[in-house]
Amino acid sequence: MDLYIDTANLDEIKEAAALGILDGVTTNPSLIAKEKGVTYHARLKQICEVVSGPVSGEVISTDYAGMMKEAAELIKIAPNIVVKLPTTIDGLKACKALSDQGTKTNMTLVFQPLQALMVAKAGAFLVSPFIGRLDDVAEDGMDLIHRMRQIYDNYGFRTKILAASIRHNKHLVDCALAGSDVATMPLSVIKTALNHPLTDSGLKKFVEDYKKAFPG
Ligand code: G3P
Repeated sequence: MDLYIDTANLDEIKEAAALGILDGVTTNPSLIAKEKGVTYHARLKQICEVVSGPVSGEVISTDYAGMMKEAAELIKIAPNIVVKLPTTIDGLKACKALSDQGTKTNMTLVFQPLQALMVAKAGAFLVSPFIGRLDDVAEDGMDLIHRMRQIYDNYGFRTKILAASIRHNKHLVDCALAGSDVATMPLSVIKTALNHPLTDSGLKKFVEDYKKAFPG
């Protein structure tokens, strides 16, 4: 399973990249808006200079023509830019047109399996189900990942399932078990993926025993 970081913060991206396991970056307008003193495109360019894997840059337009115009500008930023589009009628049309011209897309704000079927038929490179936001409204985010996996496997769709809105380690391990192709998450989740109290106490004991046995 590929691991992406879900942020527009450069320090966080560099910290995750330094771990050596970072495969890509997802951003959205809300995440870039949190960053002070940068323009939208400039921040995407800076991210693409740090990470060679796919970097999702989202359009703001909600109409087909506007999305296509923005996509044309976004793909000039760097070769690894993936155009992130909302999963709407206009977004679907833009996905099909961009896929046909060889531009990679990430279809976002997916909350039910038929949206995933439609964007796969339109040639999406990535599809982003938001599992945390489904859990927030008392639905089952992980069930959506399972259903999408089944549908894609039934018909051999090559669109990659990118589990988004991941809030904690249980989401992450369940995504891996469900066969999600990619998971994107905040730096805090990436870092806690290595945590276990028995690792910490075990390491402490190894070091203590060594020092006792081999003083100096
Ligand atoms: O980038 C999309 C998604 O990961 C957002 O997550 O935590 O705002 O629901 P969240």
